[in-house]
Amino acid sequence: MRIDILTVVPELLSSPLNESILKRARQKGLVEIHVHNIRDYTTDKHRTVDDYPFGGEAGMVMKVEPVFRVVEKLKGERHYDEIIYTSPDGQTYDQHEANRLSTLENIIILCGHYKGVDYRIREHLITKEISIGDYVLTGGELAAAIITDSVVRIVPGAIGDEASALTDCFQDNLLAPPVYTRPAEFNGWKVPEVLLSGDFARIAEWQENEAWERTQRLRPDLLEKNR
Ligand code: ADE
Repeated sequence: MRIDILTVVPELLSSPLNESILKRARQKGLVEIHVHNIRDYTTDKHRTVDDYPFGGEAGMVMKVEPVFRVVEKLKGERHYDEIIYTSPDGQTYDQHEANRLSTLENIIILCGHYKGVDYRIREHLITKEISIGDYVLTGGELAAAIITDSVVRIVPGAIGDEASALTDCFQDNLLAPPVYTRPAEFNGWKVPEVLLSGDFARIAEWQENEAWERTQRLRPDLLEKNR
């Protein structure tokens, strides 16, 4: 899989995409992540990527030409399954969408900035608009990093233990059950006895019950999705 991220602040993306599972997935060749500075696609002396909005509102708007140039260049090199724009007014991101994106071959993520991008970019170049939640970030870079992280970790082979991505929170619209490790007792606080029993059928049943109980208590809205 290949992810191309278009941004005016590439520095914001370097560390989140170069540590831990993402670093390993890139080293193993499971995923290629390329960050492009939109400023490199300007043609004027000042490398201008934004301008005042028509109509005289406050704030700046990302210009159409540099974004068009980088998108056209990339599209000339390969087919893209999805060209994503990160924006608070996009569709709310969730595990279902992460799963879908992880099956694609090539995607572009355009990070919004300033007051937004010239709307013609969204009308003519973008195929999918994603919000990571109902709050406003300074720019779309952190959203792009979140999307990339959540997608790459479920690309087959990225996580050492193949089964572990399938038991993540949300994979079946349930929260994950509690987990514990040694020591079995600390400070008088005990690990549930069933987990020490070695009886895998009982353990699986306990985990399923816990997942349902926690979901019902903490996120009853998720259970609606299972109906
Ligand atoms: N850019 C600014 N806020 C955002 C959000 N909530 N989701 C995605 N991109 C954004």
